[in-house]
Amino acid sequence: MLDRAGRPLRDLRVSVTDRCNFRCIYCMPESAYPKESRYLPSQRLLSFDEIERLVRLFVNELGVRKVRISGGEPLLRPGLPDLVARLAAIPGLSDLALTTNGYLLSDLAPALARAGLSRLTVSLDSLDPQEFAALSGGQAALEQVLDGIDAAITAGLAPLKINCVVMRGRNQGAILSLARRFRGTAHVVRFIEYMDVGTINGWQRSDVVPANEILESLAAAGPLVALAPNYPGEVARRYGWRDTAGEVGIIASVTQPFCGACHRARLSADGRLLTCLFAASGVDILGMLRSGESDSALLARIGYTWRERNDRYSEDRHARSQSSAHKRLEMYQIGG
Ligand code: GTP
Ligand code: 5AD
Ligand code: SF4
Ligand code: SF4
Repeated sequence: MLDRAGRPLRDLRVSVTDRCNFRCIYCMPESAYPKESRYLPSQRLLSFDEIERLVRLFVNELGVRKVRISGGEPLLRPGLPDLVARLAAIPGLSDLALTTNGYLLSDLAPALARAGLSRLTVSLDSLDPQEFAALSGGQAALEQVLDGIDAAITAGLAPLKINCVVMRGRNQGAILSLARRFRGTAHVVRFIEYMDVGTINGWQRSDVVPANEILESLAAAGPLVALAPNYPGEVARRYGWRDTAGEVGIIASVTQPFCGACHRARLSADGRLLTCLFAASGVDILGMLRSGESDSALLARIGYTWRERNDRYSEDRHARSQSSAHKRLEMYQIGG
């Protein structure tokens, strides 16, 4: 099944909640989304039964091999390890990953490992406590996240991926400190160009630290060598250290967009099917599930949506060299 640009569907990313206990300035800034804001009521979230049914369809009938659970902050969803266990048991799903801010990992890492999670990605934007607190909206203690990372390693979820969103004038020092901290280990640190996901973060092109600048900063940690992608369409460009073990990556969706090989579909927490991270709307799959539609009706709708897909937001932004003025869904609704 190919979309209008000839791209197959391979990965599904499932947001399990729009809630978050952080207020990262690039995603859910406190000024636009105060703590007392309303989240989706639980009955408007996809239930575990609904998620399992959909993932089975995507795997059995639509060619998906890889699922990533995201949020908001997915570990805030009550009973998440049960969902992981249910998805991990689906034959044909070879890779079940999760992206978290790490805050609740100290408690949940053992249960996630027992449930059969294959891979874990933890967001970590700084190793400086003050800088970390400022970026996460003052909600979080760095120590708690570092303890969570240790707990995940102890629970056997290693090697981890560590994601760092780089913002100009905010955390450029983290490039070197994170690279040094994880150099020589099996954990992979990826540096992400700050993106114009959603519209509440007030993104400006000048806040982006381009991949070539990130690479220059990394050179101070050691000599790098470019590595081939692990799989076609991998979003991170990979680099190894010439003088020791370890790997870093750069996700350059702003300066080197990768829409041409984009094989990801997304389910928002309220059950909409999105064909791009920068989508303004999606297909209401939750509504179909709750009005009793059959598997074949769901498959027809999903298949039609994918075949009609023509998204290439990042490449268009690159060509225009500015963000689009259109309203887009927010990162915490989609999960990255
Ligand atoms: P792996 O399976 O480990 O390769 O995961 P991944 O890199 O696809 O997933 P992850 O959630 O760690 O994504 C890292 C960053 O890349 C996040 O900020 C995502 O929002 C961003 N990203 C992932 N997929 C896309 C995409 O299709 N388009 C854009 N523009 N950014 C993406
Ligand atoms: N630009 C780039 N990355 C972002 N993330 C969240 N918002 C943005 C943004 N505006 C990252 C998070 C997490 C992943 C799911 O997406 O830090 O690592
Ligand atoms: Fe929460 Fe993740 Fe958004 Fe930060 S980036 S506010 S941790 S959902
Ligand atoms: Fe895929 Fe949209 Fe990202 Fe392009 S901008 S890589 S089409 S999700």
